[in-house]
Order: sequence, then C-alpha cells, then structure tokens
Amino acid sequence: MDAIWLTPIYPSPLADYGYDVSDYTAIDPIYGNMDDFEELLYECHQRGLKVILDMVLNHTSSEHAWFKESRSSRDNPKRDFYIWRDGRAPGKPPNHWLSVMEGSAWTLDEGTGQYYYRAFLPEQPDINWRNPEARRAMLDACRFWLDKGVDGFRLDVVNYLHEDEQLRDNPRKIGIRPYEMQKHVYDRCQPEDHDVVRELRSILDEYPGAMMVGETYTDDPAEAAAYLGDGTDELHLAFNFDFAMTKWSAGRFQRSVGRWEELIPEAGWPAYFLSNHDMPRHVNRLGRIGDKGVRARVAAVMLLTLRGTPFLYYGEEIGMPSSSVPRKRLRDPVGIRFWPLPVGRDCARTPMQWNSGAYAGFSRVEPWLPVDKSYKKVNVETQIREQNSLLGFYRRLLRLRKEKPALQVGKYRALPGSDMGMFAYFREGEEDRIAVLLNFTNRPFTLNGKAARIEGGPWRILLSTYPGKEGGFLPDGIILDPGEAIIMEEIKELEK
Ligand code: GLC
Repeated sequence: MDAIWLTPIYPSPLADYGYDVSDYTAIDPIYGNMDDFEELLYECHQRGLKVILDMVLNHTSSEHAWFKESRSSRDNPKRDFYIWRDGRAPGKPPNHWLSVMEGSAWTLDEGTGQYYYRAFLPEQPDINWRNPEARRAMLDACRFWLDKGVDGFRLDVVNYLHEDEQLRDNPRKIGIRPYEMQKHVYDRCQPEDHDVVRELRSILDEYPGAMMVGETYTDDPAEAAAYLGDGTDELHLAFNFDFAMTKWSAGRFQRSVGRWEELIPEAGWPAYFLSNHDMPRHVNRLGRIGDKGVRARVAAVMLLTLRGTPFLYYGEEIGMPSSSVPRKRLRDPVGIRFWPLPVGRDCARTPMQWNSGAYAGFSRVEPWLPVDKSYKKVNVETQIREQNSLLGFYRRLLRLRKEKPALQVGKYRALPGSDMGMFAYFREGEEDRIAVLLNFTNRPFTLNGKAARIEGGPWRILLSTYPGKEGGFLPDGIILDPGEAIIMEEIKELEK
C-alpha cells in the first residue's frame, strides 16, 4: 500500500512552516479549503493511495485561540493548557532547559509575569499534556481527521510531549551546539508519553487500516523503539534518526540496521528514511562531488530493499540536490538565526522540479522559496524521457518491491563483507529468497575463497545499477563494479 504524508496544512502564521498550528480542524487558505482537501482525499483513495496528515501535538501556535486565552490572565480557564512557571529569580527562567531551535526553552510573558515553556520557537508554546482538557481537545482533533477518512498521522516530535514535572536540570555533556551539550533526560522521552501514545493507538484501532508513525526525535534508537511498545499497543512505526546521521560506510549502515532490527519488537515493524524536510538532502549528505549519482542509486536500493516501510522525501527520486538559498530569501527561522552555519532547513524545501519551464512547473507565481538552479536538468519531465534516469531507476525498484514477497515481508539477515566495503543481506520469504549486494566503495569488489560464495543459489540478477547485467547470474566469487548495487533472486530447484 502506498501513502502520501502531507506536512501540516492547517491554518498557521507560518513561524515554523506550519508546525505552528492555530486551528487543528481547518485547512490554511493558502492551500485551499476543506472541500479541496476532501476532493484530494477522495482522488487519492480512488488511486489506491492513503493519506497521512502531520499532527503537531506537542505545541500549538502562539496565535491559537487557546494560547491567547491562556496568556490573558493567570486565572483564565485555559491557563493550565500550557506550561506556566515562575522564574527561579528575577530575570532567570525556571530552569536551564534549552529550545531545540534557539536559547532558553522559556519565554517570559510580560503581561502575567510568568514564563511559558516551548521546546521550539517562542511562537510554539508547549501544550500541557497533564491537563485532561487539553489532552482531550488534542485527541479530538485527531478523531476529527480520522472521521473525515484520513489514513493516519505522522506525529511531530511525539517524544517531546511531556517534561519532568519537577523541572529537574539535564545533566551536561560534550557537544557542539548548546542544545547538544545537555543530555535530554528530563525534557524528552518521559514515561508519561507512552500513556498518550497508547490512548492514541486505541483511537486509531477503531479505524481499520489507520497507521501512525512517530517522529521519535532522538539520537538513541533504543529511545525511539520504546515508542513501539510491544509492537501492538503504541506507534505502528517510529523514525530512526540514526539512519539519517550515518556516514557513507557499509559497516556503519550494517550496524545501524542490525541494531534497529534487534530493537524492533517481535510484533512491530521497522521504518527507514534517508531524507526529510529538516536536514540537507541525502544526495549531498552522503554523496561525493562528481560521483554522478552513483551513491544515490546504492542508497535507493538499500532504502527500498531493507525489511521495513521506506519513506521517500519528494524530489529524492530525481536526485534534487540541497539548494543554496540566498540569505535574503531564507524562510526557516533556524537558518536565519544561525546563518551562515549550514543548519537551516530551506535547502531541502525548495519547489519540486517538474519540468524546465517557469518555476520548474511547480507554480504559476513566484514560489515561497526559489527553485534550485539544477532544475533545467534535474526534473521529472526530462527524466521520464531519459534512459537510465534516477527516476526510472526508482520506478523499477518500486515495481520489483511490489512483485517480490521476500522484499515486502521477508526476514532480514546480514552477510559478511561490510568490513571490506560491501553491505550485503538476504531477504528471506516463505516462497522466495532475495540477496542484495551494495558496494559502498568506488573500487571493484572481488572476494575469493570461501566467503565469495553466497549460500544457496544459483542467483539470478534482477537489477543492477550497471545496465545489461539483469537476467545473468552472479559469477563465481563475488564481483561487483565500483559503486554497484545488485538485487538477485535465488532460482528454485525445479527451474535449475
Ligand atoms: C519537527 C518537524 C520540524 C519542526 C519541529 C517543531 O521536528 O519535523 O520541521 O520544526 O518539529 O514542530
């Protein structure tokens, strides 16, 4: 089943690209109205596509009616919807917690003389999930969309919902940015989060087929996996950020996958992504200048053949690069604040490149961010025509994935070789067996001797990043061309 995840489309003052929601049950007029949304949903369903919305449960916009009320006076009934505290001393915030985005996580509200907590921007006050009414209001918003027929949610920073009730300071650690110089023991991944996720799961379970994937934003995959509960009672899927932080190394990726496989509960299911809207695109992050997209293909084969649900970020299928957005066109508050440090996120958010026409076919009017300069060459229309384009390659991979049960549900088992630059694994289904060999190096890869035979076989090549090898058999000894990725299928006894 395929699905589209839409980043937030609700009314928002856009302090953080819509992750500052001012109304959870409406559509921002810049995108259209509720009728348009319903039509989109209907048309997607007609085409067998599911639609997942981005639910921002941790915080609202400071322009949300609840927050406006909450900040209006200390005894307003909505005061406790948010996290208000007195300072430690005049001019001193309640504790030393930091915002993911900038400075202290506390903002002083002059009107009422108290600080409110916000893990992100001052325009994104955190909801107090210990307040039963706030909790109910948020969960009702989820129901609203499920009743409309959406197929589930991507839950924004779901591991940030609660903070330590006693506001204990985090232990210090070594890091580059101030936020990384704290161990986030008390301001994220709190045990109370799991009650909320379990309640959400029971709501989703009332809607057959509904799914939720959590943005479990932590550098420790074990913390992320904890949000899968026993595999049946919390999130369906959790994002593992380790994969997005891993350098181009067969060993690193193999270890990352191995660890994730171990952490996923028996009844659970892994998920993988390489790029998203919060980081430079992986063609740049993992690629080498002038490698002609070789690594992009190896990465695509890996992402689409591992055991788990792959998430593709728009434009990665045509190799859209991270864009260098000029300073005066920046929109991302993080990018603006830390310029020229390369931490801004606009680079990954430029318009989709459909064709080589005006605004890359994305828009008839000047878009919010400039189109990347690569659009004349890197666009969908050109790649549909081109032989061996990256887009064509993604399509072949996706087709293969749909055809082969082992690629969908088969078990994952790693093969040796990662210490030499080859990440290789089996996907073993009940009926079929697939082997995937990824040469992470730019040298030919040859293995002689015992290790060079892949057990079982014979192995027929279903797909290679070197055209012309398909249909052939893997020669004796494992031989891969530089940067080659191969998918092979074991030929059954009868056919031999
Ligand atoms: C998540 C989103 C990011 C946003 C942040 C605050 O990390 O992916 O884009 O800025 O949450 O909502």
